[in-house]
Order: sequence, then C-alpha cells, then structure tokens
Amino acid sequence: MTFVLKTDAQRAFEWSRHFAESAPEIAFRLWPDIGDPAQVRFLATWSLPPDLATTLPNLELLFSTGAGVDQFDLSRLPGHVQVVRMVEPGIVDGMVEYVTMAVLAWHRDLFAYLARQRTASWEPIRVQTAASRKVGVLGLGMLGQAVARKLAGFGFEMHGWSRNRREIPGVRCHAGAAALPGFLASCQALVFLLPLTEQTLGMLNASLFARLPRGATLINVARGQHLLLDDLRAALNDGQLAGAILDVTDPEPLPPDHWLWSDRRVVVTPHIASMTQPETAVRSVLQNLRRHARGEAMVGLVDRTRGY
Ligand SMILES: NC(=O)c1ccc[n+]([C@@H]2O[C@H](COP(=O)([O-])OP(=O)(O)OC[C@H]3O[C@@H](n4cnc5c(N)ncnc54)[C@H](OP(=O)(O)O)[C@@H]3O)[C@@H](O)[C@H]2O)c1
Repeated sequence: MTFVLKTDAQRAFEWSRHFAESAPEIAFRLWPDIGDPAQVRFLATWSLPPDLATTLPNLELLFSTGAGVDQFDLSRLPGHVQVVRMVEPGIVDGMVEYVTMAVLAWHRDLFAYLARQRTASWEPIRVQTAASRKVGVLGLGMLGQAVARKLAGFGFEMHGWSRNRREIPGVRCHAGAAALPGFLASCQALVFLLPLTEQTLGMLNASLFARLPRGATLINVARGQHLLLDDLRAALNDGQLAGAILDVTDPEPLPPDHWLWSDRRVVVTPHIASMTQPETAVRSVLQNLRRHARGEAMVGLVDRTRGY
C-alpha cells in the first residue's frame, strides 16, 4: 500500500522527512517514482497527473495539498475516489495574519500614508475607532470563521455571511441569499473567502460592488476567477470602491504589463496569504488516513457534487 506525493523538490524533502519520522510503516514515494502503480492507494498533490484513472487504477484517496480543490477537474476522477482538502492549522494562521494585516492597513490609512510619503507630505488623517468601522467576511468556512473571530477582537463592527447560519461571538452572522444585500450594505471593508465553484465564479462583479457602501475596500483572498476585473476597474474609477487588496488574480502569475500592478488604488500580492505548512499538513494527512482505516469520516472530505 503506497502513499504518493506529487510536489516540488523542497516540499517533497520536508514531507518525506515528516512521513519517515511519524509513519515509517507507510510506503511513501515521490512522483514520478511511484513503484508498482497498482499499490498506490493514496495521492497528495496540487495538480492531477494525466490519465489518473489508468495510471493509478487503485487510487482511493486524493488529498489536495492546499485548502481549495477548484484546481482539480473532478469530472476526470473515477466516482469511487474520495477527495480531501487540506485542513491544517498552518493555513488558518497564515490567512488570519494576512487578512488582519490588510484590514488594519485599510483601517489605519496605510495606503494613503504611503502615497503621502512619496510626496514628502506630512498630513495626518483623523484616526477612526475600530468600533466605528464595519468589516464583513463573505464566506464563513474554516478560514472565514477564524478571520472574523480575530477581527472581532479589535472591536470592529463585524459582519459575516454564509449559506448556512453560523454563530460566532462578536460577529453579526447573516445567512442565505435573501440576507446578502443587507450584509453587503454593512461592509466598508469586504473580505472575500468563498471557494471557487460554478455558483461563485465571477461573484465579485458590478452588481455586488453596487450594494457595498460607497468608497468600500475589497480584500480578495479566495481565487482570482471570483473577480471580474473590468467591473473592478469601473468601480474604482467611479469611486464606488476606494481600493482593493488582492492576493489572488486571474491569471497567476500576473503578467508584468497588467494594469493591476501599476494602479495605485490596488495592492497585489502573489497568492501568499497562507501556505500549507509541511509538518502540520503531514500530521493532518496521517490523522485522516487513520480515520479512513477505521471507517470514520475524514476532516476536509469534499462533497464532489457541490465542489467544496
Ligand atoms: N489566498 C490564499 O493563500 C488561500 C489559501 C487557502 C484558501 N484560499 C481560498 O479560501 C477558500 C475558502 O477556504 P475555507 O477553508 O474557508 O473553505 P470551507 O471551509 O470549505 O468553507 C467554504 C464556505 O463557503 C460557503 N459557500 C460555498 N459555496 C457557497 C455559495 N455558493 N454560496 C454561499 N456560501 C457558500 C460554505 O458555506 P456552507 O458551509 O454553509 O455550505 C462555507 O462556509 C478556499 O476555497 C480557497 O479558494 C486561499
């Protein structure tokens, strides 16, 4: 019974070490040196190898090495293969840090001061209290809940929206499509954290921006394909949006001549909000392998019909 990891050399080195330390009994191999393909029951990867169904005929579990699974074409997988996304504390901590940085930078006018520094301009802006600022988190899954909880601790008026109702201390939780307009009207800063599915593709568009308070700031840490860039540019030009902090873009990497790079109202980072940490990731995968062996539900098991 073999576990195969398909990743880059540095991550392969670290995963190999943690597997060897924590589960020496598991035959752990690195793609493409997989040994007997018929023995491979578990695969961890970000990208699917070609012809997976024929290359690995006895595959049971496909682990994503990241929190999302939108990079997989799930229709290419045999029906019996279970897909598990990465649920590990390193991803959560990274996302909480990034969004906290972005919201505090917006709240404390860092971007305005960076512009003023370029013109040597000593021009204070009146400090607003956190309690007077409204922040919304769209998507209250593993990451959205952790982010909302942390931001509530700063005293912001926090709002969250999800499909099914959540209860988070210090956060006004809105649920369902009918509640979306009211939620959006409460977001001076909107943190977007939904998975990319057919339903959420292109959701960050002109009609959503129009429901935000005028001059709102967008923080997109989900996927670039959620955001319609022409609509973003129009909303920035018209003043409906004051700025955007984008950790994800479409395409990635962003081409050097793309307008996002040079637009002073936009901050772009290269999809680094959070990264899977090898040590905690291996621990999480091993716990799931044990659950699977005992016939228990795995943490992060993806519902293939809904795509997350
Ligand atoms: N930038 C980065 O570095 C980075 C790193 C990690 C993850 N991400 C992105 O963050 C996303 C979210 O991660 P997560 O771990 O928080 O996901 P998750 O735990 O699966 O949570 C997804 C949330 O989205 C909600 N949802 C899904 N589809 C919806 C829809 N059509 N309408 C309304 N709500 C919907 C779900 O609501 P219900 O539970 O009510 O169905 C759930 O609350 C990932 O998919 C990935 O794209 C980015």
